[in-house]
Amino acid sequence: MRIDILTVLPELIESPLNHSIIKRAQEKGIVEVLVHPLRDFASDKYKSVDDYAFGGGAGMVMSIEPVYKAITSLSKKRTYDEIIYTTPDGESFSQPMANELSLKTNIIILCGHYKGVDQRIRDHLVTREISIGDYVLSGGEMAAAIITDTIVRLIPGVISDETSALTDSFQDGLLAPPVYTRPAIFKGWKVPEVLLSGNPQKIDQWRFEQSIKQTKKRRPGMLSAEDLE
Ligand code: 6GU
Repeated sequence: MRIDILTVLPELIESPLNHSIIKRAQEKGIVEVLVHPLRDFASDKYKSVDDYAFGGGAGMVMSIEPVYKAITSLSKKRTYDEIIYTTPDGESFSQPMANELSLKTNIIILCGHYKGVDQRIRDHLVTREISIGDYVLSGGEMAAAIITDTIVRLIPGVISDETSALTDSFQDGLLAPPVYTRPAIFKGWKVPEVLLSGNPQKIDQWRFEQSIKQTKKRRPGMLSAEDLE
């Protein structure tokens, strides 16, 4: 998979993608993540990437030209399956959406900034508009990093323990159960007896019950009416 990220603030996004799992996935050659400064595509002598909004009002708008140039120059070299725009007024990001995106080959993520991008880019080039939650960030860069991280860890071979990504919270529509490691007793705080029992069926049953209990308590909206009884 190849992910091209277009941004006015490349510094904001480079570090989170160059550590741990995403870094190793890139080293293994499973994914390529490239960050492109939009300023490189600006044509005036000030390298400007934003301008005043037509009709007035506070805040700057990301200009159409550098964004258009960046997208078309990338699209000449390969076909993109999705051109994602990160924006608080987009569709809510979710695990099923991440699962779907993890199957794609080439993705562009355009990071929204300032008051957003000229609407004509959204109308004519963007294929998907994504928000990561109901709150407002100063820019779409951190959202792009979050979307990239969520997608990349799902690609087979990225996480060594194949079952690990499948047992995450949300992946089966439930929150994950609690986990423990040694020592079995710390300052008198004990690990649940069942986990030390060596009985895999009992342990699975306990984990499932804990998942239901956590989900009921914290995210009842994730459960069906039947589960809530
Ligand atoms: Cl994608 N961008 C911004 N600026 N704020 C957000 C967001 C995106 N998702 C939630 N809040």
